[in-house]
Amino acid sequence: MKKRVFSGARPTGRQHIGNYLGAIQNYVSLQAEYECIYCIVDIHALTTLQGVEGVKNLQQNVREMILDWLAAGLDPKKSILFVQSEVPEVTELHTLLSMTTPLGWLMRVPTFKEKVKMQPDNVNYGLLGYPVLMTSDIILYKAEFVPVGEDQLPHLELAREIVRRFNSLYGDTFPEPKPKLTQAPMIVGLDGVQKMSKQLNNHIELAATAEETAQRIMTAYTDPTRQRKSDPGHPETCNIFHLHEAFEPMKTKDIPAHCRSAQIGCVDCKKLLAQEVNAALAPLRERRHELASRPAYVSDVLSDGARRAQAIARETIREVKDRMNLIRKDT
Ligand code: TRP
Repeated sequence: MKKRVFSGARPTGRQHIGNYLGAIQNYVSLQAEYECIYCIVDIHALTTLQGVEGVKNLQQNVREMILDWLAAGLDPKKSILFVQSEVPEVTELHTLLSMTTPLGWLMRVPTFKEKVKMQPDNVNYGLLGYPVLMTSDIILYKAEFVPVGEDQLPHLELAREIVRRFNSLYGDTFPEPKPKLTQAPMIVGLDGVQKMSKQLNNHIELAATAEETAQRIMTAYTDPTRQRKSDPGHPETCNIFHLHEAFEPMKTKDIPAHCRSAQIGCVDCKKLLAQEVNAALAPLRERRHELASRPAYVSDVLSDGARRAQAIARETIREVKDRMNLIRKDT
């Protein structure tokens, strides 16, 4: 039998090439070998969004994200694709696990401490419970592998601890989920310094037009030590070169030599990159366009995903409640 993979991502709207190279491509390729469950974690999003203003784009963000996922090759015939809040069993498991998770473990989580600094006016209870909810996501489906970026390793370590504790208190119930680190290196944004992110506006959307893509690439920073076209470049520290490598490692293998010897200038190098990115994304963009014209189909994909996920979730909840002696027995 195929082993099960689970991963979740917050609904951040249109995905960018950093999300694509860093996570989505990996999700797609895992479908061949594993039974995959991919979830848009809208409840987790509420740990940082608040009020009518805060939540107003949630539905749209979910919609944009699922369009990108489907266009990129996540296949509802192979995988379960669903929205977290549509399988409310996860909140039940979260509450039950919260009874076996020591407070100290949660207060030590690095992302919690960061969030407390970042949003001192909204240190809500859910923020502390974030890793418990994430653990619930994974183990509700008894997933064995979790594709994540390195930033999520502390959360996953905690998930394993929560599982070990539950299993030792109530008997072997859950497998310990193992991380499946993405091979792709971190994609730096167009500012050349920070990780590509929508928030920093240093990104290229998958759904961007070819023109927008080219325009954004032309504004990107390159090797800062290269002032004139005649200066030799340093591809190893150049953001644009790393994108060449990520997109077309074979076709662009001459670029480092040509850059070092100043045979190619940054403008031409960026034009080449824009062509590569646009050519690589053209089929995805076409599929996305087609999917966007069939909202009922996309909606059905998510409903069907939730239904299939819920069937698994119900069984796990039943088992957990039984372990915790929450099931009434006729005496
Ligand atoms: N915490 C993850 C992130 O911010 C999102 C997430 C929620 C997740 N539940 C998950 C990832 C379960 C993997 C498995 O990226």
